Amino acid sequence: MAAADVLPSPPVAAVSCSQPVPAPSAAEALTPLIQSTYRTSELRFFVNGRRVCVPNPDPEWVLLDWIRAQDNLKGTKLGCGEGGCGACTVVLQTREKGRRLRHIAVNACLFPLIGVDGKSLITIEGLGTVSHPHPLQERVAKMHGSQCGFCSPGIILSIYGLVRNAYRDGKFRLSASDIEMQGHLDGNLCRCTGYKPILEAAKTFIVEDLKGNLVEEPASYPIMVDDVADKLLQIAPKGSGCRASSTGSCGRLGGCCRDSPTSSSSSASETSPSSQQSSATRATSASSSGKETLPRDFAPYDPTAELIFPPALWGYQQHPICYGDERKIWFKPTSLEQLIQLKDAWPFAQIIGGASETQIEVRFKKSDKYRVCIYASDIDELSCFDEPQGDEEYLALSKVSIPGNMSLSKVEEICVTLLSRLGSRASALEALAKQLRYFAGRQIRNVASLAGNLATASPISDAAPALVAAGSTVTIRTKKEGSYDLPLSDFFVKYRTTRLPANGVITHINIPLSPRETLEVTKAYKQAKRKDDDIAIVTAGFRVRIDKDGIVQQAIFAFGGMAPTTTVAAKTQHVVQGKRWSDGTTRESAISALLEDFDLPFSAPGGMVHYRKALTLSLFFRFWNESVTELGIAQSSHDSVSEIHREISTGTRDHFVASGTKVVGREMPHLSALKHCTGEAEYVDDMPQQKNELHCALVLSTKAHARILAVDWSAALDMPGVVGYLDKDSVSRENNNWGPIRVDEPLFAVDEVHSHGQTIGLVYAESALRAQAAAAKVRVTYEALPVILTIDQAIKARSYFEHGKQLKKGAAIQGSLDGIFAKCKHIIEGRTKLGGQEHFYLETNAALAIPHIEDGTMELYASTQNLAENQVFVAQVLGVPMSHVNMRVKRLGGAYGGKESRSTPIACLVAIAAKKERRPMRMMLNRDEDIMTSGQRHPMQCKWKIGTDANGVIQCLDVDIYNNAGYSLDMSGAVMDRACTHIDNCYHIPHAWIRGWLCKTNTVSNTAFRGFGGPQAMYFAESFMSAIAESLRIDIDELRVRNLYKQGELTPFLQPIDIDFHIPTMLEQLSASADYENRKKDVKTFNSKNRYRKRGICKIPTKFGLSILLHHGGTEMGQGLYTKMCQVAAEELGVSVDQIFNKDSQTDQVANPSPTAASSGSDLNGMAVKNACEQLNGRLAPYRKQFGQDAPMSVIAHAAYQDRVNLAANGFWKMPRIGYKWGNYKDPLPMYYYFTQGVAITEVELDVLTGDHTVLRTDIMMDVGRSINPSIDYGQIEGAFVQGQGLFTMEESLWTRQGELFTRGPGTYKIPGFSDIPQIFNVSMLRHDSDGIALNWKHLRSIQSSKGVGEPPLFLGSTVFFALREAVKAAREMNGMEEPLVLDAPGTPEKLRLAIDDEFVKRASVTPKDGEANFFVRIEE
Ligand SMILES: Cc1cc2nc3c(=O)[nH]c(=O)nc-3n(C[C@H](O)[C@H](O)[C@H](O)COP(=O)(O)OP(=O)(O)OC[C@H]3O[C@@H](n4cnc5c(N)ncnc54)[C@H](O)[C@@H]3O)c2cc1C
Ligand code: FES
Ligand code: FES
Repeated sequence: MAAADVLPSPPVAAVSCSQPVPAPSAAEALTPLIQSTYRTSELRFFVNGRRVCVPNPDPEWVLLDWIRAQDNLKGTKLGCGEGGCGACTVVLQTREKGRRLRHIAVNACLFPLIGVDGKSLITIEGLGTVSHPHPLQERVAKMHGSQCGFCSPGIILSIYGLVRNAYRDGKFRLSASDIEMQGHLDGNLCRCTGYKPILEAAKTFIVEDLKGNLVEEPASYPIMVDDVADKLLQIAPKGSGCRASSTGSCGRLGGCCRDSPTSSSSSASETSPSSQQSSATRATSASSSGKETLPRDFAPYDPTAELIFPPALWGYQQHPICYGDERKIWFKPTSLEQLIQLKDAWPFAQIIGGASETQIEVRFKKSDKYRVCIYASDIDELSCFDEPQGDEEYLALSKVSIPGNMSLSKVEEICVTLLSRLGSRASALEALAKQLRYFAGRQIRNVASLAGNLATASPISDAAPALVAAGSTVTIRTKKEGSYDLPLSDFFVKYRTTRLPANGVITHINIPLSPRETLEVTKAYKQAKRKDDDIAIVTAGFRVRIDKDGIVQQAIFAFGGMAPTTTVAAKTQHVVQGKRWSDGTTRESAISALLEDFDLPFSAPGGMVHYRKALTLSLFFRFWNESVTELGIAQSSHDSVSEIHREISTGTRDHFVASGTKVVGREMPHLSALKHCTGEAEYVDDMPQQKNELHCALVLSTKAHARILAVDWSAALDMPGVVGYLDKDSVSRENNNWGPIRVDEPLFAVDEVHSHGQTIGLVYAESALRAQAAAAKVRVTYEALPVILTIDQAIKARSYFEHGKQLKKGAAIQGSLDGIFAKCKHIIEGRTKLGGQEHFYLETNAALAIPHIEDGTMELYASTQNLAENQVFVAQVLGVPMSHVNMRVKRLGGAYGGKESRSTPIACLVAIAAKKERRPMRMMLNRDEDIMTSGQRHPMQCKWKIGTDANGVIQCLDVDIYNNAGYSLDMSGAVMDRACTHIDNCYHIPHAWIRGWLCKTNTVSNTAFRGFGGPQAMYFAESFMSAIAESLRIDIDELRVRNLYKQGELTPFLQPIDIDFHIPTMLEQLSASADYENRKKDVKTFNSKNRYRKRGICKIPTKFGLSILLHHGGTEMGQGLYTKMCQVAAEELGVSVDQIFNKDSQTDQVANPSPTAASSGSDLNGMAVKNACEQLNGRLAPYRKQFGQDAPMSVIAHAAYQDRVNLAANGFWKMPRIGYKWGNYKDPLPMYYYFTQGVAITEVELDVLTGDHTVLRTDIMMDVGRSINPSIDYGQIEGAFVQGQGLFTMEESLWTRQGELFTRGPGTYKIPGFSDIPQIFNVSMLRHDSDGIALNWKHLRSIQSSKGVGEPPLFLGSTVFFALREAVKAAREMNGMEEPLVLDAPGTPEKLRLAIDDEFVKRASVTPKDGEANFFVRIEE
């Protein structure tokens, strides 16, 4: 449909700005139907128990837009807008056929608003509040399941939906397996916690809170319940809940079913920690390992306080709805007949099922074809399945007809139910259920449909290959032709094109069952980067039918990911026809034929061609083994058949309480945790709408390097609601530049763009959606210029930023290492690479500027780690003194270094617009904009040469480190400095020459990220270790010990290792507690017995230097800084923590604050807080004497106040002793104040056929000194480890050859999810030395002798990579490979599989033709 087509007018007074145009076809076709059938434009539903009526809503809104437009519903967050993070999860209570109720967790960011009609919506506010939390919220909060808190509401609601569905007949059918193994949390991401405490909270909730009402039998799939409200009331303890209340209301702040519309409110008051302790029962919680852990107080679970399904909705009659305006119009038919009529009248109208494809197209691809949309998911004929009744019906069944728009979760349930009745006849259903288990995340499966999947015709559809293999058909219905069936194998025509007629509706998908007595097997497989919630790289469905002699009668081998459509391997099918299936020769000829079927060119779209080809062979090989075993015609080894398996995770923390102090050193939940979990915690975009506020959106470059010839923003300004446009001409040349170290980056591009995603302009409008739509209309004309993307290209072009720093030690200071190398017994050289890492904080960059017209000042709320830098540059662009700008930060939804510098331009841009319009301006970046603009961890490359003696002891190192800095300098120099000073990791290098190079490329400007270059450099160090061990054939653990530092030895920056070096004892202690040596032997035994499954284990130390100069004023981004600072203040002032209140950070209270980064937050701010408290204690001393030491602070402070004593104090602290100057080799001062150290042991299992893996166990021991708050530190350790695991094994940024970042959302960029964390995850803290004597770290002059812990453990995530490397080595050894293994991080399944380099990999190799290049570019190369 052309955009110019005029839409019909919806009923009621729909707004229309356009003049009627004669003969508009859509209007003509649809108006009669609207007049006859669609009489209302009103949505009626319930929100948290309250009735809501929304007349004629904005047709561009999804459910999240409506929710977030409500003042009291800000707990539902926008994290990605593409169904990939779960931050927007809400629960819909829906009534199904009969009196059946279901709670479904959905992604509000995709869910069509029209779909909420007739349902009951539960948001996080409906569960509880800080003063009256739901037990789930309380558990997650108190058990440290929340750090920055941005993910917490969504995760809690996913668990909540599961719990509510598990209830039947007065019992909950729920187990730890349901929580962890059935994919109920696979649609939720958390970037902070490492998931372990969240799982612990959920599992203990089930065991402890539901106890008595739990049924042992696991219920893997949600149960439909009858009249849950009445049943819940029956199991309630007498005198509790709704029945207990004389008013009939249980008083819950989220709203009780019995509240009258005006009887309760959902207030979000600031609450002191003590009030967070609600009336409690004492519960001693067991850790998942079964060990008793700390006692915790939790309110008892009261099922009657749950929101019931609003009685008014039981009798709700669905009615046809239509609403919209000149932009877009929505229909909601209530019957198939009505839908067919609409499609017949206007074939271009789009059917919307779960909207999981369509909404992506609308929002990200800005597709214009969705101007007329028909919501079909609530049509009974398309969504309800009539289960066969009784044995006879089951016996008569020859196919299963799945309704087209039934949710995939229900399809999965049906498959499992029917399978249990039909047995092997239903192996096609088993195959489909298996695909659906790993299809998207739970929230998507709860709404998405098979019809939607097939109509989309994605070449990597997970359902299509399984359905094609099964021989399925689709039933299509049109008004003229009626219903007819089409074989699915004929359905797909070409890329994303099917034989579905424009006016057709897919009503059913028909899956044939195997005829009785037939020997037939159907299986399906999927390989992705991440097991849960990831799109497939290759996906396959296989079916083979043999006769009684074992001869193949029918074979269908369908693949996704190998062609523009789901496709069958025709030659291979032909080759096996009529052959004995169990013969090895049949298998071999099939494998050869597969190579012909899928002869992909090197540059094929999607890349990974070598891996994809190898996978087709591996998956077929697995199917062959599985099928011959299942048919009983041959035997295959277990490891060739089974896929990687995961157990329910367990783990311990050793709960180290180091000090005898009252408050500091105690475990204490994050002070805001309850607010996070109840949704009351306010982030920038949750702040109330300001009067006259406008919203901004960025105009970004679509070229990596180009001259800007013209910019035309007239179409944007013509849009209704758009107010203005800014660019380079809106700010003076000198004020247009910013930069954290060198001021080299323009806020608005001038004349040229140097990176795809660079900001060219800014549009502002009355709403964020409108501003974004307008920004997309700005037309930029470019003249393309040559592009440099990779490190190799930059080296070749000598494209560097000036840096010039190097480290020299030993002979290098005299000018040459040649003499030392000449004396070395062994010299090994290599090149090691590591990709970048996206921060993927859940809250994207956001800022709100409020101009104060009266005095020309401006208040800015920003999600930033760096108040001071924001303030400096905002003042610069406004042309005012810094004192006129007050920067404020309450909390950040994660940052990890990514908001240290890259938050600055956002604050500046909104400030410029606010100044110009004299109106408040707000901007929150979309996920893709954030990833495109905000930089990543630096991809790095290292060229190294290392010399050792005969025993592998390192003598000298000569190394060049290159980082890909991107198009501006940002902090790349400082990141390189840290890399240079961490390339020793824990090993002594007598002679070293270390040079750092900052490559200037046309990519996003890379920036700080937790570890700041340290993890990359330590990874290089461990790569040297692997290379030495492998080439000298020395056991790598022995090699590490031989090279460890000893006290007094000098680092490459000439700092002596002091008594604080605990690595040797930690290696020993952790080895003992993790039973390392025995497990190492077990791994060898396992590997000798398994060909297609290999294990690896490794033990790696880390030391991370910490230092920073300056003052105080940290920001809270989930790392628990505010909590720790309250603890320090409470301890120093002798009061309880609940008497301390930390509101937010702002520059007019703490001038010139340091960025909260580099793990220094607690050190700097803690010592400064201590300093301030010491001043106060001095002033209060006379009053303590007068009233007694134990007198309450209120009395003492009041008396002091009466005497006009100043009760405010400014603390200041600067780290002493340090002051390294680069290039001073004579009398250098220390670079670092101290080293935080740690050791980790990790064991993994690798699927040799696919490259899939699981982490079986990780043990970590950290030396964090005397922790201020161990529970926060454990959380930091676990969270950092999992982030490191992502860096080294999973997270991969890919670029197109034109320099466009391809991986810019959770759909393509995968961070670890719930199922990726170590299955056993134990964390401990160093307590004593190797003689068993308790350590006190007295020599450290930090708060309570604690050490910074935010960054150091991240590198330990590399143990997963190095353990996988061991597993790959074992596989190569078994295949007789002798060449040295070269394996770069991240160790994705693709890299692991190809590194195994077995026969399949060799046979699948693809040779590039002249000039042919890979589809994607890795910029570390
Ligand atoms: C985060 C995320 C993860 C995903 N993961 C996967 C995955 O792992 N595997 C996978 O295969 N896919 C995946 N997808 C793609 C998508 O979820 C599926 O294709 C899904 O099945 C689409 O169903 P839907 O009901 O949401 O379709 P919709 O988006 O509602 O519609 C898609 C198309 O189907 C048409 N349509 C819908 N119903 C009918 C009907 N009854 N008759 C005719 N046409 C109809 C629509 O008009 C539209 O053109 C993912 C998507 C997202 C957003
Ligand atoms: S915001 Fe909806 S899934 Fe991320
Ligand atoms: S606490 Fe989960 S993303 Fe921060």
